[in-house]
Amino acid sequence: AAASIELNNKLTCPQLGLGTWQSAPGDIYNAVKHAISIGYRHIDCAWIYGNEKEVGRAIKEKIEDKTVTREELFIVTKLWNLFHSRNQVVPACKESLSNLGLDYIDLYLVHWPVAQTISEIKTIDLSLIKDANFVDVDYVETWEGMEDCVRLGLAKSIGLSNFNTKQVRRVLDHAKIKPVMNQIEVSPNLTQKKLIKFCKDNDIAVTAYSPLGSPARPWAKPGDGVVSLDNPQIVSIGEKYGKTSAQVILRFLVQIGTIPIPKSSNKERVEKNIDIFDFELTPEEVKVLESFNCDGRAVPADDFKASKYFPFNED
Ligand code: A2P
Repeated sequence: AAASIELNNKLTCPQLGLGTWQSAPGDIYNAVKHAISIGYRHIDCAWIYGNEKEVGRAIKEKIEDKTVTREELFIVTKLWNLFHSRNQVVPACKESLSNLGLDYIDLYLVHWPVAQTISEIKTIDLSLIKDANFVDVDYVETWEGMEDCVRLGLAKSIGLSNFNTKQVRRVLDHAKIKPVMNQIEVSPNLTQKKLIKFCKDNDIAVTAYSPLGSPARPWAKPGDGVVSLDNPQIVSIGEKYGKTSAQVILRFLVQIGTIPIPKSSNKERVEKNIDIFDFELTPEEVKVLESFNCDGRAVPADDFKASKYFPFNED
C-alpha cells in the first residue's frame, strides 16, 4: 500500500493514486476494480474524462463486496472550465457526485484556471475544448463556489490544478478555505522545482500528473522528447533494485515529495506502479533523474493559450 501525507486541513491523502484520463469506458471499470483489490485507495478522476460513471460503478462494487469502506478511499474529481461562475460550481459538483454515485468527494479541484462557455454539451470529451469559447470568469470567483462545496459537505477538501505561482498566490490572498493541493504536471522532464517549493512553503501538497510523460497522449509526435522509459540510466538504476524504469520514476516523484497518479488500464502495470514503497533511491540517483529536466510538457494545453488566465507563460 502507499504511504500517506497529511494535508493542511489535517485530512490525509495516499501518496500514490490511479489516474483515469484516456481510459476507455470498460477498461477503466476493470482497472479501478483491480486497483482497489490490490491496495490502491486514491483514484484521480475528472468530469471532462467522461468516465466518472464507470469509475463510480467500480468503486460501488468494491465497497459492496467489502474490499474497502468509503472512508478508506480518497476520491478526487475536477470542476471543468465550463462551470466557473460561482453559481455553477455546486451544481457541477453535484453532477460529478451523481456520476460517481457518491455523497461526498474527498478532494474537488479546479481543473484549470481557464473559464470557457459553450452553447450545447453534446458529448463529454476533449472535443468540447475546441468548440468552447473563453469567458472572463476570474478563478477567484470560482474558488468561492469551491468553498460553497465544502460548506455544503459535498467535498471534504478543495484544491487547484494547473495553477502557476502567481495564481496560487491570488487564491491564497482571497481564500476563506485554503486549497490543500495543486495538481500539476511533474515528471523527470518537468521537475517543477520552483512551483513545488512555492506550494510546500505555503503548506499546499502537490500531485504529479502525467508522471510517466503520458506516452499515449493524443498529440504526441515521434521524438518530441518526453521521458523515455528505455532511458539506459533509468533502466540501470532500476536493475539495482529489481524495479522497472516506470517504478524508478514514480519512486523519484515520491521522494521529491509529490503524489504521482500514473494511469494504467493494464493489470500488471497497475500492480507494478504502486509497488514502489519498499526501496529508496540515493540522493545521487535522485540527481540523475532531476538531470533530465528540460521543462518539457506532455500537456502544453496550447488550446488554452488565448485565455488571459493561461498558466504556463509565467512558470
Ligand atoms: P497502459 O494503460 O497500457 O498501462 P501517465 O500516467 O504519465 O499519463 O502515463 C500513462 C501511460 O503510460 C498509459 O499509456 C499507460 O499505458 C502507460 N503506463 C502506465 N504504467 C506504465 C508502466 N509501469 N510501464 C510502462 N507504461 C506504463
